[in-house]
Amino acid sequence: MSTMQGRFGLVTGAGSGIGRASAVRLARAGAAVLVTDIDGDAAEATAATIRSAAGGVAFSMRTDIADEDSVQAMVAACVERFGRLDFAHNNAGIVGTQHRLVDYSTAEYDRILAINLKGTFLCMRAELQVMVPQRSGSIVNTASAASIKGSAADAVYTASKHGVAGLTKVAALENARRGIRVNSVCPGVILTGILEEVERTNPEQFQKTKSLMPINRYGLPEEIAEAVLWLCSDASSLMTGQMMAVDGGWSTM
Ligand SMILES: NC(=O)c1ccc[n+]([C@@H]2O[C@H](COP(=O)([O-])OP(=O)(O)OC[C@H]3O[C@@H](n4cnc5c(N)ncnc54)[C@H](O)[C@@H]3O)[C@@H](O)[C@H]2O)c1
Repeated sequence: MSTMQGRFGLVTGAGSGIGRASAVRLARAGAAVLVTDIDGDAAEATAATIRSAAGGVAFSMRTDIADEDSVQAMVAACVERFGRLDFAHNNAGIVGTQHRLVDYSTAEYDRILAINLKGTFLCMRAELQVMVPQRSGSIVNTASAASIKGSAADAVYTASKHGVAGLTKVAALENARRGIRVNSVCPGVILTGILEEVERTNPEQFQKTKSLMPINRYGLPEEIAEAVLWLCSDASSLMTGQMMAVDGGWSTM
């Protein structure tokens, strides 16, 4: 039997990149998945991919994680459709524009924090409102290697992802005796849309950054999805409150 057979849950930011890979992988392991993204068409495309694979169960919904009503509606839709919420991969996030801290505008600070930190908080709160009475569940946040270390030129993104670490650890402790586990996956530099754009427009920079990776290559969304699947499943039953780096050694430098 697949690890996620009979499990029901959701993935945010699943219209592309890591979220899409995770939704597809969870479904391939037997889970029924609510696929959500602020881009509703992209979410539906991922759900259609899952359904087109033999036996895949998925439906989609446009969700803006920075909007409280939208997040509440997402979790309510999952419960209405599936009757429960066994797992949630809170993955949606943005990099934003990168500057030295001294050059960030307040508007850009607010935009990045509203999605990456407040959005993750809104999702976790709505999910826990279902999981606590249910007395079971696994929440996995997509944090970042930037939750573990600092690097010049993305202070606000780094702060938002350090904030996700705080939410993860506290929610794990608060719910450890209620059958609920909360962890984060911390990707390194992963080959998704933004990086593919750099490869097209600035191949020299693309190669230079790659050579800084300890394993001399970028990560793939599918490699993060394997970690998410493990954290969502019972195979990781002793893991809670952890920031799991999946980064080819990037965060140890
Ligand atoms: N790619 C990397 O190198 C990397 C490294 C570390 C962490 N991450 C994190 O991984 C997550 C996914 O990033 P990705 O690289 O797959 O990027 P991506 O841009 O391919 O995917 C992000 C998805 O989130 C959606 N989204 C954006 N704002 C949203 C909102 N307000 N509500 C709902 N959906 C929204 C986008 O439409 C998009 O489909 C992010 O949290 C990012 O910070 C990525």
